[in-house]
Amino acid sequence: MNLPILEDVEYRPAASRPGTAAGSRSVYIETYGCQMNVADSELVASILNESGYQITTAAEEADIILLNTCAVREHAEERVIGRISQLNGLRAHRPNLTLGVLGCMAQHLSKSLPVRAPFVDLVMGPDAYRRLPEILAQSSDDALLDVRLDRAENYIGVNPVRRTSTNAWVTIIRGCDKFCTFCIVPYVRGRERSVSAGETVDQVKRIAQEGFKEVTLLGQTVNSYREGDTDFADLLREVSAVDGIERVRFTSPYPVDFTDRVITAMAEVNEVCPSLHLPVQSGSNKQLDTMQRGYTIEEYRELIRKLRIAVPNIALTTDIITGFCGESDEDFRLTYELMEEIRYDSAFMFKYSAREGTYAHKKMSDDIPEKIKGERLQRVIKLQEGISREVNRQYIGQTVEVLVEGPSKRPAKDGQPRFYGRTRQGKTAIFTQEIQRNEIVNVRVADTTSHTLLGEIAE
Ligand code: 5AD
Repeated sequence: MNLPILEDVEYRPAASRPGTAAGSRSVYIETYGCQMNVADSELVASILNESGYQITTAAEEADIILLNTCAVREHAEERVIGRISQLNGLRAHRPNLTLGVLGCMAQHLSKSLPVRAPFVDLVMGPDAYRRLPEILAQSSDDALLDVRLDRAENYIGVNPVRRTSTNAWVTIIRGCDKFCTFCIVPYVRGRERSVSAGETVDQVKRIAQEGFKEVTLLGQTVNSYREGDTDFADLLREVSAVDGIERVRFTSPYPVDFTDRVITAMAEVNEVCPSLHLPVQSGSNKQLDTMQRGYTIEEYRELIRKLRIAVPNIALTTDIITGFCGESDEDFRLTYELMEEIRYDSAFMFKYSAREGTYAHKKMSDDIPEKIKGERLQRVIKLQEGISREVNRQYIGQTVEVLVEGPSKRPAKDGQPRFYGRTRQGKTAIFTQEIQRNEIVNVRVADTTSHTLLGEIAE
């Protein structure tokens, strides 16, 4: 199939796929991957709403289906390929359906996707969403491709359509300049660019007026934020000062850019929640070096030490990769021991997945057999499961502050409905008394699992 690059496309007036600019066309958006993608889908919804499209939550009824995708591991891409094929089946009843792939995988596989999934109508990278209405309005026989990266695109002026929830995502920095050798993100999301502090604070004010009590500041390396004289510590303080905002979170920080000023802000500003996701990836200096993480394990440890002194009740989570190029038994042992030492509250753990375009893919040998990657992964998962269970047990008997999210999907064993929310540490708390979403209550913890705290509302 011939896949035109957008600039070169000559749009034909009559084509098999009609243009979809007409008002009241409905769009269904499905999101994969990180919170930045969730935030990006909210931008896409806003851009399309402004152009007269209706957002629907039912894929079967939609005129346009957009999948906002992730490229960070191969598995994520495989899932999306499976899902697009399934959605393509809807064409039997909806011949005019437009099926689009957005986001990081669209950017990453812009050349091969149309071959692997020739029924895809639209392939669009994360910097091109402003052009979505214009492109959907075109008629074409061919898939449309827009994967231009834009060093300046920050979606200023687009006010995201936030899904009803208790937390509002606010993207403060896009892209990544770190180029860790395993990671595809800098190639699919382009260079770092920060949103101005004024724009961010205005957005948070709007969010507070909409009734949100919690915001999460987002960026691939969120603490690398800098705009003029404002660094990330300043921004945390400014956002926390907005009336109505009671909880401020941020994700994901990069260890190297974690300044003492940010630690102090976390310690001093009440609104900033005591929870932190600080990806370590490996406990071995040799591996950290080949990953080009830019820190040693001693430096990482020192950072954790300072954080725990400044914010004593902080909940720490991390990311771990097993089986990265050259990982020896000894390297793995160091990772395992680091996890035992730090005792994270929880961790996201992954087998290394070579990504085309990265330095590791080009220059290093993916030499750890799948079986060993998998065994190591299972070992850290098991370790962390035990640690999470023990860490959570410490909350038994304590009273924790919970921002209520709504009815829990899983009722109690006796069939009673339950409700849930999140503690300031970011843990899920479950209780039986019905409380309105967005209320902040105290919960006395009676029992815990590795993932949740269970308790009752405390007076
Ligand atoms: N293989 C496995 N895991 C990866 N991650 C990023 N790239 C890869 C890869 N190629 C993990 C890292 C990162 C998280 C978002 O995904 O742990 O912190």
